[in-house]
Amino acid sequence: MLSDLLANNKRWADRMETQHPGFFKELAAQQKPEYLWIGCSDSRVPANEIVGLMPGELFVHRNIANMVLHTDLNCISVLHYAVEVLQVKHIIVCGHYGCGGVRAALGRQDLGLIDNWLRHLKDIGFRERDLLSAESDPDRRVDRLCELNVRYQVDNICHTKVVQKAWQRGQQLAVHGWIYSIEDGVIKDLNVDIDSYRDLPEIYCLEEV
Ligand code: CO
Repeated sequence: MLSDLLANNKRWADRMETQHPGFFKELAAQQKPEYLWIGCSDSRVPANEIVGLMPGELFVHRNIANMVLHTDLNCISVLHYAVEVLQVKHIIVCGHYGCGGVRAALGRQDLGLIDNWLRHLKDIGFRERDLLSAESDPDRRVDRLCELNVRYQVDNICHTKVVQKAWQRGQQLAVHGWIYSIEDGVIKDLNVDIDSYRDLPEIYCLEEV
């Protein structure tokens, strides 16, 4: 029941205020998160909860299959605000195994409007077809593309002007790729961290001025 949610909220707010007097007043005055989280909209991957962070500690953007597309004004605006105004120190792309978006992208069904969004995943699937076809189990193939997708989105973040200008200014900023398992609640670090534009392909690198 919807009214239960509001009752839950009241209890939660009371409990927070009891445990941390002045908590909301302090938060209302400013937010200073050190992390930007880019994750999947999937209800089983609640950002703050799985990394044990409080309100105010994690700036969050979620969409289907945790993608960062340079034509997505929503995502790029979040990135811009997080880097330039909040000055987050870490950007975490967190995918998850068994992602429905990734699974759909490997299929051939007509799913309507969402096919245009999933098309970007198909492009990764096509580019990485040799790696993917090496997986004979269909579920393993989905999981492999979930991992590859995170790596591509980490690259996409590093290819944005927002992030490259921050690095040029000498701002401390690192981009990380993680993947979460819905089956056991554990996050795996994919070790694809990037913290400068030095190793990026030249065509994506912003000219230094
Ligand atoms: Co998902």
